[in-house]
Amino acid sequence: MEYTVIEFTTVTSTNDVAKEYAKRGAPQGTIIKAVSQTKGRGRLGRTWYSPEGGLWFSLVLRPEGTDSMDRLCIPLAAGLAVCDMLSCWGLEPVCKWPNDVLVRESKVCGILAESFDDALILGVGLNLRVDGAPEGVRYASIHRLAEDVLSPDEALQYFGQAFSPYYHLLVTGQRQKVLEYYRKYDVLFGREVQVITFERQINGVARGIGPCGELLVETAGAVHHIYSGDVERCRVMHARS
Ligand code: BTN
Repeated sequence: MEYTVIEFTTVTSTNDVAKEYAKRGAPQGTIIKAVSQTKGRGRLGRTWYSPEGGLWFSLVLRPEGTDSMDRLCIPLAAGLAVCDMLSCWGLEPVCKWPNDVLVRESKVCGILAESFDDALILGVGLNLRVDGAPEGVRYASIHRLAEDVLSPDEALQYFGQAFSPYYHLLVTGQRQKVLEYYRKYDVLFGREVQVITFERQINGVARGIGPCGELLVETAGAVHHIYSGDVERCRVMHARS
């Protein structure tokens, strides 16, 4: 994919700016990047702390020829690309379904995908060198976990290179390959989880990622396919003695 990066110093949210660009016909590959955001957004209406020092950007995608399940996997592919990138830096990242990237059990990256007409805005926040969050904001920053940290520009380049091949697989009907790669990083597999969906709460054991990118959770006698939700708690299962 060809990328065009449009840089801002401060915006409310790069997702909002990218949406405006998409409305005006910005082509696929347009990236809105900001040094800081005043109203960075996370999933489920949460606030995303985004001062100078992190990588905050939104990519305009126009995933023609995909079905809704392929599109559901686009943020998973972005998480996968972030994991590949962090692995190259010598870290041991994992993905926490649906869209978080963790290092040593701490979240260092969040992904927010928002649809708009035929476009999909893929917002990525990567805490490269982030400090000083207000009380109560849970976050981790890569500079506390790794010796060398790239600049936001270098990290964005890495991301672009890592994401393109996965995106290509998704738009050419090869979703299963992307999911195979994703499963390598799936930290929830085999863990006890509590998943909150719009309708209910499910407690069970995560059994991996299904063919549409959904989380599989086993409870007594049933396997639930969860297409959207939030994993609140995840504990490693201990073998009984
Ligand atoms: C989450 O984990 O809840 C998702 C966080 C997504 C944050 C990124 S930062 C760039 C883009 N702009 C936003 O307002 N949000 C996303």
